[in-house]
Amino acid sequence: MSLNADPAFWASANKHLTRYGPAFETIIVERAEGSFVYDADGRGILDFTSGQMSAVLGHTHPDIVATVGRQMGSVAHLFSGMLSRPVVELAERLASHAPGLDRVQLLSTGGESNEAAIRMAKLVTGGHEIVAFAQSWHGMTGGAASATYSAGRRGYGPAAAGSFVIPAPNSYRPRFSKPDGSNDWQAELDDAFELIDRQSTGNLAAFIAEPILSSGGILELPLGYLAALKRKCEERGMLLILDEAQTGIGRTGHMFAFQRDGVTPDIMTLSKTLGAGLPLAAVMTSAEIEQKAHEKGYLFYTTHVSDPLPAAVGVTVLDVVERDKLIEQAIARGDRLKKGLLSLQQKYECVGDVRGRGLLLGLEIVTDRQTKAPGFELGAQIMEEAMRRGLSMNIVKLPGMGGVFRIAPALTVSEDEIDQGLEIMSEAIDYAASRH
Ligand SMILES: Cc1ncc(COP(=O)(O)O)c(C=O)c1O
Repeated sequence: MSLNADPAFWASANKHLTRYGPAFETIIVERAEGSFVYDADGRGILDFTSGQMSAVLGHTHPDIVATVGRQMGSVAHLFSGMLSRPVVELAERLASHAPGLDRVQLLSTGGESNEAAIRMAKLVTGGHEIVAFAQSWHGMTGGAASATYSAGRRGYGPAAAGSFVIPAPNSYRPRFSKPDGSNDWQAELDDAFELIDRQSTGNLAAFIAEPILSSGGILELPLGYLAALKRKCEERGMLLILDEAQTGIGRTGHMFAFQRDGVTPDIMTLSKTLGAGLPLAAVMTSAEIEQKAHEKGYLFYTTHVSDPLPAAVGVTVLDVVERDKLIEQAIARGDRLKKGLLSLQQKYECVGDVRGRGLLLGLEIVTDRQTKAPGFELGAQIMEEAMRRGLSMNIVKLPGMGGVFRIAPALTVSEDEIDQGLEIMSEAIDYAASRH
């Protein structure tokens, strides 16, 4: 019998754990290292979601292990008004990578960082209306959840007053097309803001956006879109908040995804990848916005704000990314992975689209290439089959789209591991498609 079937473990899990989302995997993870997690039978499973899209250095990276040991032995947690060296060093290092965003607040999670960003935007602008994309995910806490539209809206009572939404541009399924059939995202954006202006009571505070909508199905904002969005914000006195939870720290081939576009947001939030799997988040803004917020009494005081342990981890993450040239590596490995995915598209009718950049890629499963009919069931079967063969991938299922695999290995992934992942994907698609 597989040790993953441990009856006592599952009886206890089924009795005591609250079910907080989709069903749990049926393995018991005993340890993880690099690009692999190992189950109770000692079987290695390639982790192509970097944990929950966070472990950019792979699992149990020796530098992180060393930093946690060292920092834990000196100082881990402090009174929230006390400062330590790792906090100031991380703030300075982050600011050096993002000219114009000189002020940094260190927190724990993505939802929390967006909460802080939204509060700051409300305070500074005096408005309270927050606009987001219809396929967004910004977190599960109040303000962040109010700006999250890809899942989880029903059943929890009212969202924050003044929560508005516009569609995210989707090049594979454009809502507005140019005569040549390509996505007319500018027309879509103009149309969307016309509707925002009609709904607004004159209290717009911010737009919050992911540069690549991940939980929304790897929807990449086309080049030029961010600049156009920033103009829409400026025209209305709104701030632009970019949520780089998944795209930050090199994953897309830039330190921050917005750098491709040459557009600096008013506020940027980092989380997931910044701690490479440990809870660490940052809210970054300009000296001017920070000054205004401070003058108005900005308060976002939490238990773990400016904690030295996660800050030291963040410094090590930046050290390793810089030392091992992981941004360049994300580009090179991402190219290899994307080429492999494109050849899967050539080979299998059910692969409708391949998109994304760097090591944040999407592969959309459809049941018909012409009609682009969503292949939810087939996608779920492919995912299950890949897992059985030793590859963990995550699929998002959203209304109006096919099942989209989010493929985001660690930046430290080797060429062999990429090839191995592609091989398993090919076998899994072959197996599932032939039986569908
Ligand atoms: C873009 C983005 N922002 C924010 C969050 C929320 O982060 P957390 O779960 O750490 O609160 C997520 C989580 O998936 C995310 O993908």
